[in-house]
Amino acid sequence: MSQPRVLVTGASGLLGSNLALHATAQYAVVGVTNQRPLANAAFDTVQADLLEPGAVARVLDAAQPDWVVHCAALADIDACEQQSELARKLNTELPGQLAQETARRGMRFVHISTDAVYDGTKAPYKETDAPNPLSVYAKTKRMAELAVKAAHPQWLILRPNLFGWSPNGVHSLAEFFYNNLTSGQAVNGFTDRLFTPLHVGFLSEIILELLAKGVHGIFNAGSSDSLSKYDFGVMIARQFGFDEQLVRPAHTESTAPRSADLRLNVSRLSQALGRRLPSVADGVTRLYDELQNGHRHKLQGMLAVAAKG
Ligand SMILES: NC(=O)c1ccc[n+]([C@@H]2O[C@H](COP(=O)([O-])OP(=O)(O)OC[C@H]3O[C@@H](n4cnc5c(N)ncnc54)[C@H](OP(=O)(O)O)[C@@H]3O)[C@@H](O)[C@H]2O)c1
Repeated sequence: MSQPRVLVTGASGLLGSNLALHATAQYAVVGVTNQRPLANAAFDTVQADLLEPGAVARVLDAAQPDWVVHCAALADIDACEQQSELARKLNTELPGQLAQETARRGMRFVHISTDAVYDGTKAPYKETDAPNPLSVYAKTKRMAELAVKAAHPQWLILRPNLFGWSPNGVHSLAEFFYNNLTSGQAVNGFTDRLFTPLHVGFLSEIILELLAKGVHGIFNAGSSDSLSKYDFGVMIARQFGFDEQLVRPAHTESTAPRSADLRLNVSRLSQALGRRLPSVADGVTRLYDELQNGHRHKLQGMLAVAAKG
């Protein structure tokens, strides 16, 4: 096969924008955006509301990709509680339809699920542990996994937790800590929430590597180690030279039900890749490097230019 063409949905979001940028180093890339168009992106973009009748087929037939990575979603847990019908359509129906339409056209399909499919009572989780999603968000994402498996013979599903710089600058937990700490604002860091976050750049590379190797199946996608959200905030404060006392240990106050302990066992992914996964500290170092080398600026510039234009 000549160099594969990659279609990335959610290209204006945290994962999609980073993935699309990484992929351009090797592949021809088309990024799908919806309400937030991009300008001056290093990849082709197409604007489409994928929930509109016929939009999925139209976008696939126009772009003719070999690989489709589906990153579009309603990923805000509280918004999903408030707009459960939209969450069902976007997070369950759309991936099911994309899986069907890509299978029909012989395209590979990657679906991005979430660590939140686990209920947090028996971490660290392996992929063989039974999911028990608690929130509307997690339930719609779990239903999508089942729909994708039923529709595509070569399904590839990742259950990540991720952090990094995003085009709108306020999306990930790392940005929450960075934005507050950089302006000297104290923030709560939850000591009762454990997770296994993976830097979005590493996740992007992993997705492309799995596709290139022709791997399919379901994989937890996290770093090689886990920590509390409080410790994550302290790690960011130290890496960026902020006063770590500004990160205050606290307990969760949550409206939507959230799983408390989402430590992931990532050995299946590590085996599929044939290497150890990076640590959370490796990811935080990369986050810092991306601020210095202009990656964050580049991501935010794509959105800012589009907003002005
Ligand atoms: N962020 C996390 O911490 C996290 C953790 C675990 C799993 N995940 C999963 O990872 C994936 C990526 O998440 P993310 O944080 O990158 O999401 P995000 O930043 O919220 O981006 C969501 C994307 O979906 C697009 N979109 C929404 N509605 C659409 C529609 N009707 N048609 C076409 N596109 C539409 C948005 O486009 P516009 O903005 O242009 O409208 C945006 O590009 C999701 O599947 C999410 O569930 C995320």
